[in-house]
Amino acid sequence: MPQAIAYVSQKSPSTSEQEIKDLLRKSQTNNIERDISGILVYSDGNFFQVTEGEPEIITSLFNKIKADNRHENIIVIFNHSIVKAAIDGYKADFATRHEGYDSQTLSNYLHHIQTLDPKSQAVVKNVLKNFLS
Ligand SMILES: Cc1cc2nc3c(=O)[nH]c(=O)nc-3n(C[C@H](O)[C@H](O)[C@H](O)COP(=O)(O)O)c2cc1C
Repeated sequence: MPQAIAYVSQKSPSTSEQEIKDLLRKSQTNNIERDISGILVYSDGNFFQVTEGEPEIITSLFNKIKADNRHENIIVIFNHSIVKAAIDGYKADFATRHEGYDSQTLSNYLHHIQTLDPKSQAVVKNVLKNFLS
């Protein structure tokens, strides 16, 4: 069964906008190569990420992400097995429309999280509200 991990975190004070752009691009390339689906959005100092895929791949990626000093204060929203990936493909973007951000991906994800347990759903909805506004 695939594994899904979702978390929010804060950009580290020393991380520049260029570094964020680079990491969004790199994570998108890596994840597509490794068959990881999900989203990574950055908005106003915060990251929100969902990764879904083979448990070993997702866990080892998350260990790398946790150790990455470009962000801090990571709060895990959920980390559990799922029946099937809720997201088609992988998207990494800035949550600002002028950057070409596709808000439809987040809206679609909101639609799919109905398969999550009620508590995870409530937390994700709350987090996404801020990224969607
Ligand atoms: C907020 C955040 C999210 C990240 N998400 C991913 C990701 O989804 N996939 C990924 O490969 N790297 C991600 N990274 C980067 C990893 O921490 C690590 O630098 C990268 O995986 C190393 O890639 P490499 O093994 O190809 O050198 C993320 C980093 C941060 C700070």
